Amino acid sequence: METVLSGIRSTGNLHLGNYFGAIKNFIRMQHEYNCYFFIADFHSLTTHPTPKDLHGNVRKVLTEYLAAGLDPEKCTLYIQSDVPEIPELYLLLNMNAYIGELQRTTTFKEKVRSQPDNVNAGLLTYPVLMAADIIIHNSHKVPVGKDQEQNLEMARKFARRFNTMYGIEYFNMPEPFNFGKELIKVPGLDGTGKMGKSEGNGIFLADEPSIIRKKVMAAVTDAGPTRHNQKMPEPIRNLFSLLELVSTTDTCNHFRNQYKDCSIRYGELKKQIAEDIIKFLTPLRERIDQISGDNIFLSKVARMGAEKARASASKTLRDVREIIGFKKF
Ligand code: TRP
Repeated sequence: METVLSGIRSTGNLHLGNYFGAIKNFIRMQHEYNCYFFIADFHSLTTHPTPKDLHGNVRKVLTEYLAAGLDPEKCTLYIQSDVPEIPELYLLLNMNAYIGELQRTTTFKEKVRSQPDNVNAGLLTYPVLMAADIIIHNSHKVPVGKDQEQNLEMARKFARRFNTMYGIEYFNMPEPFNFGKELIKVPGLDGTGKMGKSEGNGIFLADEPSIIRKKVMAAVTDAGPTRHNQKMPEPIRNLFSLLELVSTTDTCNHFRNQYKDCSIRYGELKKQIAEDIIKFLTPLRERIDQISGDNIFLSKVARMGAEKARASASKTLRDVREIIGFKKF
């Protein structure tokens, strides 16, 4: 069985974009692949969280992963910092990662621009740590969004470099993986671009109905169509994309027809979207509430995940140490 691996940085709550763009696929994959899903808390340190926030964020993501349907019996669900083999492999890979190529990475260049006061070495070597995450389990397939494709390409580069350097076909070349036919893009509520964590743009899985209503009703629209079959501007197209994720085909057709003949009222469209999101998220939010209070369950899941992840990681690291030439006295 092929190995699938993906990670999510623990910075705040998960939103609908995370759910439809990633987690929903993970839930299907866990039945068909040897899956590793983890919470990238080492990676979250590049933004210097406080000790309290660090743990709270990990806990949130773990809870929400479980509430969404990841099954710790089916996949290996773990926290990155529970697996010390990862930072060791990271150290080893760093010796063959060149400053020039790391500086040329798009995500690094963006960080230099967006946070010039905190260009730490961890940001520079972020792709090396991500490569260690991936190849520590010798993964074949890595479901990631478009923004992570370059990092994945670098993981292949470091894996290939290791193989070439030691003249051994040890690591697989991890490929990007998309389970469905097309990559689902969940738009934000602020008119342009995809859903993210920024204010006024996203709906979190844990949002209460009143918050969801408020956010959706405040979504960006325009004055409405004035000609029959008028082309939709981006903010309206985005609202229809959201509607399609959570509503029935009949409902979608109803509003589409209203748009075409100019009788649409955006207030009604938004109300529908809000109510259908609430309907969709309510069972999930109830599970989040239930799991977040269950310390015994959470610590059991984390322990079990760490054990399974370390079994696989320590085997890789043993091989790698031997290939590099470390020998016990
Ligand atoms: N860099 C990824 C992100 O920001 C998170 C991540 C860390 C990851 N390590 C990974 C994703 C390994 C896939 C595989 O979204």
